[in-house]
Amino acid sequence: MARIDTTPFEGQKPGTSGLRKTVKTFAQPHYLENFVQAIFDSVPTLKGGLLIVGGDGRYYNDTAIQTILRMAAANGAARVLVGQNGVLSTPAVSAIIRKYKAQGGIILSASHNPGGPNGDFGIKFNGANGGPAPEGVTNAIYARTQKIDHYALEDAPDVDLSKLGASQLGDMDIEIIDSVSDYAELMESLFDFPAISKLFEDGMSFCFDAMHAVTGPYAKAIFTRLGAPEDSLINAVPLPDFGGGHPDPNPVYAKELFEKMFADDGPDFGAASDGDGDRNIVLGRKLYVSPSDSLAILAANAHLVPAYKNGIKGVARSMPTSGAADLVSKKLGVPCFETPTGWKFFGNLLDDGQITLCGEESAGASSDHIREKDGLWAILMWLNIVAARGQSVTEIVQAHWKEFGRNYYSRHDFEAVENDKANAVMQKLTDQLASLPGKKFGAETIAKADSFTYHDPVDSSVSENQGLRVIFESGSRFVMRLSGTGTVGATLRLYLEKYEAAEGDLNQDLQTMLSGIANIAEEITTLRTLTGRQDPSAIS
Ligand code: G1P
Ligand code: ZN
Repeated sequence: MARIDTTPFEGQKPGTSGLRKTVKTFAQPHYLENFVQAIFDSVPTLKGGLLIVGGDGRYYNDTAIQTILRMAAANGAARVLVGQNGVLSTPAVSAIIRKYKAQGGIILSASHNPGGPNGDFGIKFNGANGGPAPEGVTNAIYARTQKIDHYALEDAPDVDLSKLGASQLGDMDIEIIDSVSDYAELMESLFDFPAISKLFEDGMSFCFDAMHAVTGPYAKAIFTRLGAPEDSLINAVPLPDFGGGHPDPNPVYAKELFEKMFADDGPDFGAASDGDGDRNIVLGRKLYVSPSDSLAILAANAHLVPAYKNGIKGVARSMPTSGAADLVSKKLGVPCFETPTGWKFFGNLLDDGQITLCGEESAGASSDHIREKDGLWAILMWLNIVAARGQSVTEIVQAHWKEFGRNYYSRHDFEAVENDKANAVMQKLTDQLASLPGKKFGAETIAKADSFTYHDPVDSSVSENQGLRVIFESGSRFVMRLSGTGTVGATLRLYLEKYEAAEGDLNQDLQTMLSGIANIAEEITTLRTLTGRQDPSAIS
């Protein structure tokens, strides 16, 4: 074993979802090693423990895994399970940690960010519950990176990641496991597979876009088994650079899917996932289901799915996610929690049995079956609900709005803004928060304006500065926050929401409905003047 001297790097602070930087940053000597050593130093249970390692297969995945294995051996891990070829989706890692009672897992992914030598890379640590390390742990890891002066590395040749089976690295046992089977088995235990198969048998047309990312092999194993035709899975071969695209399921990057779904003779059911398989989008013919609506609809219909047939205990959504789920939880008589952005904040509520389902506006939804968001799970939920209700996706969404009203909702992103300009926008809004309540803008009056602070009801931890929100008396609102996952400059996210009651107009053009709120947000923040950006770079 070698002890290698090193010095700290600036900025190894995990963001919304682990440490995410360009490949070039990660490839600097000692950069990855420092962070990995900080994980081992901050999580003492890994010594003598079982660790799960896998990633989304992006460029640098295999190089990073070889380093992590050498370091795991040198840091005294007893055993490591690695996905074949280094590949495991994020939800699969979570499922495997739980199934094999591991002490934790290291996931290599930059999620929906682009890949390749000029793209992004990322690393995050998940704990023994299968979920992203909570802030206490990520803060400890960060603190360690600032003081680090050496790391430990076992002197050993590369492990053959392609061959299933057991081997040894130093004193540590390694097992290369099938990337898909544990996860597929879990899915089968949750859903009514025969009912979903019947949909395909009866000729339901389907399209799943794997975006050349990790879900390709998972989708092949699961959907093909259910009877979906081979050619209904598109971009299903994973590529280290995702075919040059962003593996981000939205109208811009999942263009092929959106074109198919909005064609006159398009499929009945469309879906996509992201780089590491934790996100999902679902579409009906000529209809994109907003992820906020999707969470609400899953909550309202969960009892139709075998795993949730006894009902759900509660729901949680991230603060910027629309209030559609709140309306459902009220009807069901179960609590609805509002957490900061990022999956790590759902962990305590799930572990404590306070919620069954949770989700975010950013195309993430999941349940207490694991501790990550789960793209294919959400799509299987929808398929199961379509089968149980005997209605199409589009019919289910329309029926939901007719019952609960519609939360018109959209997110406008201003990406790669210079840091000082983005900070100036946030500061300008922050400075006005106290004086905004009571102010009138046309027909809207501001009821409340604050910086969101979360008090975790389970461990009483407090997380401040989790986004600025301006709420109107009508229930409409806008939220502004800085992204914690970007790698270039700052990304400003503006979230817009307007509620229309069930008797109202439920099929208006989304952006037109939200333009009034968008204009007020502009008037208050002067975002366009301060950043020099006229239009958002992405709208979802
Ligand atoms: C984004 C999403 C957030 C999600 C995270 C990881 O974080 O907004 O909901 O949990 O990616 O997938 P952000 O860039 O906004 O910090
Ligand atoms: Zn992801």
